[in-house]
Amino acid sequence: MQINSIVLAAGKGKRMKSKLYKVLHPVCGKPMVGHVVDMLEGLNCSRKVVVVGHGAEAVQQYLGDRAEFVLQAEQLGTGHAVLQAADLLADSEGVTLVVCGDTPLVREESLRKMLQLHEEKGAAATILTAELPNPFGYGRIVRNQAADVIAIVEQKDCTPEQAAVKEFNTGTFVFDNRKLFSALRRVTNSNNQNEYYLTDVIGILRADGEKIVGYLTDDADESIGVNDRVALADAEGKMRARINREHMLNGVTFEDPSSTYIEAGVMIGADTRIMAGTMLRGKTVIGEECVIGPNAELTDTTVADRATVKHSVLLEASVGSGTSVGPFAYLRPGAKLGEDVKVGDFVEVKNATIGNGSKVSHLSYVGDAVIGENVNMGCGSITVNYDGFNKHVTEVGDNAFVGSNVNLIAPVKIGKGAFVVAGSTITKDVDDDTMAVARERQVNKPGYAARLRGRLESKKNAGKNE
Ligand code: UD1
Ligand code: CA
Repeated sequence: MQINSIVLAAGKGKRMKSKLYKVLHPVCGKPMVGHVVDMLEGLNCSRKVVVVGHGAEAVQQYLGDRAEFVLQAEQLGTGHAVLQAADLLADSEGVTLVVCGDTPLVREESLRKMLQLHEEKGAAATILTAELPNPFGYGRIVRNQAADVIAIVEQKDCTPEQAAVKEFNTGTFVFDNRKLFSALRRVTNSNNQNEYYLTDVIGILRADGEKIVGYLTDDADESIGVNDRVALADAEGKMRARINREHMLNGVTFEDPSSTYIEAGVMIGADTRIMAGTMLRGKTVIGEECVIGPNAELTDTTVADRATVKHSVLLEASVGSGTSVGPFAYLRPGAKLGEDVKVGDFVEVKNATIGNGSKVSHLSYVGDAVIGENVNMGCGSITVNYDGFNKHVTEVGDNAFVGSNVNLIAPVKIGKGAFVVAGSTITKDVDDDTMAVARERQVNKPGYAARLRGRLESKKNAGKNE
């Protein structure tokens, strides 16, 4: 059976008070409309039509060729919005899903159940409904004595009796495609908002003698329609809990789920422990048996198995297996750490490769560098990569030892197995297995300290006697 889908996303979203188009507001790092389209892809919809308004280029840009777009030039209501897809879909057989672009928590599983029910019952329309003690603002589901759905009545058009109904329309539907468009053409705007309501299709189909099915979800979160930032924060919290739960069911331990923020696109391997205060964003991928956190923020970063990352910030970096990062490290774009590497406290790495088994344990800056395997970068060693105009590369060969407080003035190359003496400022290449010293030779003057002290003391006393 052909499954089409229509995403309603032309509303201006005035109540968001934002320059950003409403459905592009992210929930757990992914624009709301992205969540919806992901779900439709999961359902293998053959057509996905997104109804957008003027100024929605950003939506088209974001979704690209994942969907087709139709313009609703004026926002005359949800029914009018769906009708804009008529040119593309009206002649199609099969069913059409209608989903709002501002309901990011609708679950694929619910739509599967709806599709199944729809077919079993031979329905013309199946509505995803939910219950709340006071579903203010939502369209109410009106049933007859036999409990059949006969209409949806919008909040603003409700009688007091209808307003007391707890079951409401979540805005997600399955329709027989032909019947949908036939009914839509008969929808008028004679209501309190002078809008063409999609929800009126239900009463019209019922009057045609068609069967309407209401599928009540037990997860009222699915119904959250984000109209303002209060609802956005609510959706964020609910989505976060859902994502965390999913990872837990996949074998990830959370020290404190309530302080852990994991975005929708993140992957985590089994037996990894996520400690309190951790944020995993974007396309971050974490391997198995890692310990991430406490207090780590990773964005678009890849971490291989058995690595640990504590109290650190990682952005577009990659961390090899068994490697340890932090506490208080900062890995910036292009930081690539091999296996069993140690990057310790107050170390910043940018656009640099650090080979297997190497250590940058404390207080270093490694930028625009290629560091080989089993290298020791001593405490306070610095790659001096920038001359005020250009960035230059530092290379350090395998098994080299760079002492503490060394400046490597790039471009410069330290050979394999070389030894750079602590405190050196290196401006010339160092060959393999060579020792480099580049600092003033020390001079010791016996007894000078005592004499100096004596001089200073007698000066002080002379001052007092004045
Ligand atoms: C709608 C439903 C209501 C339901 C609620 C669930 C109607 C008339 N009402 O109300 O029964 O309980 O959703 O969240 O359908 N849109 C357009 N073009 C328009 C108007 C709206 O594309 O001309 C889009 C919006 O961008 C939004 C969706 O349709 O994504 C829903 O519109 P909205 O104005 O939020 O409807 P609600 O008042 O929430
Ligand atoms: Ca809404």
